[in-house]
Amino acid sequence: MPRMTKLLLQLHAAADRRHGGGPGPGRRHPLTPRHASAAGRFAPTALVLCLLALAAAVTTLSLALTLHRHGHDPGAAPGASPRGFAVVINTWRRHALLRRSAAHYAACPGVDAVRVVWSEPRPPPERLRRGLAVLDNNGTRRVRVRFETSNNGGSAGDSSLNNRFRPIRGLDADAVFSVDDDLIVPCSTLRFAFDVWRSAPNAMVGFVPRMHWIADPRGSTKEYRYGSWWSVWWTGTYSMVLSKASFFHRRYLDLYTNQMLPSIRKYVNENRNCEDIAMSFLVANATGAPPIWVQGRIFEIGSSGISSLKGHGLQRSRCLNTFAAMYGHMPLVATTVKAVDSRRSWFW
Ligand SMILES: *[C@@H]1O[C@H](CO)[C@@H](O)[C@H](O)[C@H]1NC(C)=O
Ligand SMILES: *[C@@H]1O[C@H](CO)[C@@H](O)[C@H](O)[C@H]1NC(C)=O
Repeated sequence: MPRMTKLLLQLHAAADRRHGGGPGPGRRHPLTPRHASAAGRFAPTALVLCLLALAAAVTTLSLALTLHRHGHDPGAAPGASPRGFAVVINTWRRHALLRRSAAHYAACPGVDAVRVVWSEPRPPPERLRRGLAVLDNNGTRRVRVRFETSNNGGSAGDSSLNNRFRPIRGLDADAVFSVDDDLIVPCSTLRFAFDVWRSAPNAMVGFVPRMHWIADPRGSTKEYRYGSWWSVWWTGTYSMVLSKASFFHRRYLDLYTNQMLPSIRKYVNENRNCEDIAMSFLVANATGAPPIWVQGRIFEIGSSGISSLKGHGLQRSRCLNTFAAMYGHMPLVATTVKAVDSRRSWFW
């Protein structure tokens, strides 16, 4: 619904622009029809009928074409056997959600491993392990769900947010889809995002865009403000895609854990926030390019987490400014590019 409003606003703006100037130089005055009075009476009705007919035709056509186009899965073409990707689920004390999302991702085509980043003090309970092991060995597909537990095993437990980016051993694929335990991305949408990533394997490719705004564009000091979803929606501009639902190359896990400035990991650890912003900085600094936002609906199955806490925006802005100071510059690059499945877009 809000999209519709935005579209209408854009149309209004366009109409205003067009009507604003009046007949400009070089523009012809509209021709007056001979029988203006008669034509004037019938024209509106005829026009409405024409538009309705056109709308019906377009709807039918696009429906037919959608059905037709969806029969063609580029990944399913014979000969094309792209390598798959690993899904890395970050979880924290929500076992029922984890079971649901792990089962979902394990069943998606293209997924060749599911890893659960486990940061709870106690090892994963046997019941949960067994519940997830079922996914391993029935059906025709065999996707192993494995737990990645932190190194300092039984002791105090390491619940650092940096855990989610620890390098994972034994992965076949280069692509990692990092996702929170309460987010479900439909398999077809996931598959499309993977295809986008394959054409830009250095980029972060995801579904949750955010922006760094300059707080005072005319001021002399560069202070940044964290731009939430609404600011991205309104402007169509973003510079990060959050790691709670994004693809990236697995080498960034190693860079994050072993090469990135230790002060950033320390900051993330102490403030229990902004590991996703840190990853966006890392990738932007390494590539000098923006991430890629992929069109697609994703579904939240849990209650809202940290982002609904009061003062969240303020904390996020502080992260932007602190990390920029640590880097010595702002590596994030803004863009308005969005990847869209062309089977679902009809005009232009
Ligand atoms: C997997 O096994 C369980 C229990 O044996 C069964 O209920 C379920 O339907 C199976 N799933 C698939 C996809 O075969
Ligand atoms: C940013 O990237 C440059 C060039 O790749 C690299 O030399 C530098 O160490 C990176 N900065 C940080 C803080 O990681």
